[in-house]
Amino acid sequence: MKNQIVYTEKENYPKNYVSHSVINNIIEIESSEDLKLRIYPLTNDIIRIRYSLDGYFDADFSYAIDENYNFPHVDYIIDDRGDEFIVKTTNVRCVVNKQNLKITFKSIDGKVLCEEEKGFHWEKNEEFGGYIVQNSKVLQKGECFYGLGDKPTDLNLHEKKFTNWGTDEYGYHKDTDPLYKSIPIYYALNDNGAYGIFLDNTYQSHFDFGLEREDVTSFWAQGGEMNYYFIAGPELMDVCKRYTQLTGVPEMPPLWALGFQQCKWSYYPDKEVLAIASKMRDLRIPCDAIYLDIDYMDGFRCFTWDKEKFPDPKGLVDNLKEQGFQTMVIIDPGIKIDKNYSVFQEGMEKGYFCKRIDGHYVEGKVWPGECYFPDFTRPEVREWWAGLYKGLIEEVGVAGVWNDMNEPALFEVESKTFPLDVLHDYDGHQTGHRKAHNIYGMQMARATAEGVRQFSGGKRSLIITRSGYSGLQRYSSVWTGDNIATFEHLWLADVQAQRLAISGISFCGSDIGGFINQPNPELMMRWIQLGIFHPFCRVHSSGDHGDQEPWSFGEECLDVFRKTVELRYQLLPYLYTTFYQYYNEGTPMIRPLVFFDQYDVQTKDRDHEFLCGDHILVCPIVKDEARSGKVYLPTSQWYHFWTNDLYDGGKEHNVNAPVDEMPIFIKAGGIIPRYPVQQYVGEKTIDTVTLDIYYKQGSESSYFYDDDKNGYGYEQGEFTYTKFELTGDQEHLSIVKTQEGNYDSEIKNFKLNLIGLPAEVSEIKVDNLIVSKDVLISTAFETITISLKG
Ligand code: GLC
Repeated sequence: MKNQIVYTEKENYPKNYVSHSVINNIIEIESSEDLKLRIYPLTNDIIRIRYSLDGYFDADFSYAIDENYNFPHVDYIIDDRGDEFIVKTTNVRCVVNKQNLKITFKSIDGKVLCEEEKGFHWEKNEEFGGYIVQNSKVLQKGECFYGLGDKPTDLNLHEKKFTNWGTDEYGYHKDTDPLYKSIPIYYALNDNGAYGIFLDNTYQSHFDFGLEREDVTSFWAQGGEMNYYFIAGPELMDVCKRYTQLTGVPEMPPLWALGFQQCKWSYYPDKEVLAIASKMRDLRIPCDAIYLDIDYMDGFRCFTWDKEKFPDPKGLVDNLKEQGFQTMVIIDPGIKIDKNYSVFQEGMEKGYFCKRIDGHYVEGKVWPGECYFPDFTRPEVREWWAGLYKGLIEEVGVAGVWNDMNEPALFEVESKTFPLDVLHDYDGHQTGHRKAHNIYGMQMARATAEGVRQFSGGKRSLIITRSGYSGLQRYSSVWTGDNIATFEHLWLADVQAQRLAISGISFCGSDIGGFINQPNPELMMRWIQLGIFHPFCRVHSSGDHGDQEPWSFGEECLDVFRKTVELRYQLLPYLYTTFYQYYNEGTPMIRPLVFFDQYDVQTKDRDHEFLCGDHILVCPIVKDEARSGKVYLPTSQWYHFWTNDLYDGGKEHNVNAPVDEMPIFIKAGGIIPRYPVQQYVGEKTIDTVTLDIYYKQGSESSYFYDDDKNGYGYEQGEFTYTKFELTGDQEHLSIVKTQEGNYDSEIKNFKLNLIGLPAEVSEIKVDNLIVSKDVLISTAFETITISLKG
């Protein structure tokens, strides 16, 4: 039963179509009473919609959209007939009802993807001026919803309601809303296909997926314009790639940034940091980075060092570097009010701190006590901030920076953030905090990324941020904030990371083991097993609840930890390849099952299993003391990673999960490139990569990306992207290799590891020459044909 549409008195609606015009591929419809609707057919799959209530549009400016995105060519036609005004591309039709300007998006064969209920409407914002801009769409029967960034809840968002307003939420729980990030993209999947809606409005925004009214999806913002992008599918993966390309991708990370990282609030003094590092090496836990949290600073003043705890920062960083560790440091936005502190002095002299409408500085308590805060929405301030990294990066040799508290977070005030009358430059479009709040953290991370790159001597670096808005992924990786050491949080970390990845932010992870409280050994083991499949893999804890190093939980945990992190290091070439695909095509590095096969209804609500890249499916064990787990394997055939047994897809299986082995499956036909175990990236000169080749009857493509792992040559083509096309039948298995790019790799050989063959190998031919079974194969090969004993 459909709800009746109830129009309230406060709500205003567009009137009828009067005329239209087209300038620069923007179609502008004028309605009676000044309202204008702009339709931008941006690509064949993306249509942007904007409204102006008084006939004048705001300057067209967005922090989300990637300036460097080359919109592919669009073919569209306008079909102005009777009651309907239609803009048609090769993939989507945008149909405007001329009576009321309600919009229906249809597939090209005329199926309704998304139809408006009340459609666009607005209410006066009595308190602040402007309007609350709203939109409601018909919720189709069985429709599922995904996306929205870091929301800590079930994967399918149906019958839930959310707010986007970056918030420091220490010790959040399932369904706490909002959290740190504001990522207003959602996906809908119904019988006619999948589509996405990206509401590019940075004010506080809200989304309701059938909670208030069961057959209505609505979204609204507390100010600004109704400005959204309709992104067509029909596949969820297509929508995700398109959204991610529209809002941008990061640069390739240094390979070490995909290694294991150890953090705590805080490791100090320097001797303690060195002791942690050498224990990692003694106990042979591979590790690439160690973090310095706020206590490395002098009284929490950013860009300073506590001279007692860290008398020789460069000496420490160099010492760590010699042992194969990169040093990461935290930088928060709050600058201590201290007349003797050069960063404060300079910020004051140059007028870089945020002010309130009456001209007073916004003053708030964070770790250093009372602080002022730079306006990162001003280009000059970002440049200044970038320059402040010279000392840390160029002089001391720090490899990357962790930006925290940038919601922006304030202590001891109910709102936890700035007052709403704080003014921001917003890159020349002066505004207040209501509009700038959600992008503040992202602009801080942007300034940081620019500074670190400037001083890194041509090397790549790692940036992490807690807060941000759509597009933040261009500048930074993220973590999910202050979680708790419970099994429920392990599940939350799993779902949040999947959700972030499909929201354009693949480079994400959680505080492994939990930030608050100490995990029991079992939780720690299960969490690292999940963590190695998250692109960002870091243990972090608040420190005041006990130790959280791999050796803090007894022998068994230490062994499991080592075995698990060793697997991460073996899989680095696979993860790096998956990162390249994210960088190059916008594919999420980890994906929910429904993004693998949306036509299989069983996948729609599955949320603990997920895919990492094209061929690995992992099933984290998120229950205490569980020694088996239920895993749904989607259509295809799957090899059990630990036993090599073959399982049928399209079914749920109950599989063993001993405490040292989380269930992992490899898609039949997949070829997984593998490194030897190293204690850190670059420890060994690797000239041979093992290819784990999983037999399949049929064909499958796999990839292997390689470059120098830390410079920018790949941007000029110095990389290799190798495609392996596997084809198998009862008697043969063949692999045809093709390659893009021209990197002169140190990897010269492949070692073949054949898994799941239906019969013994009788002969192996490489480019038509017979070779012995165990021989290393030059990476220059073109075809391998393996004959099987019939
Ligand atoms: C915040 C961060 C946490 C960090 C702490 C001290 O709570 O979320 O990761 O350790 O501040 O800097």
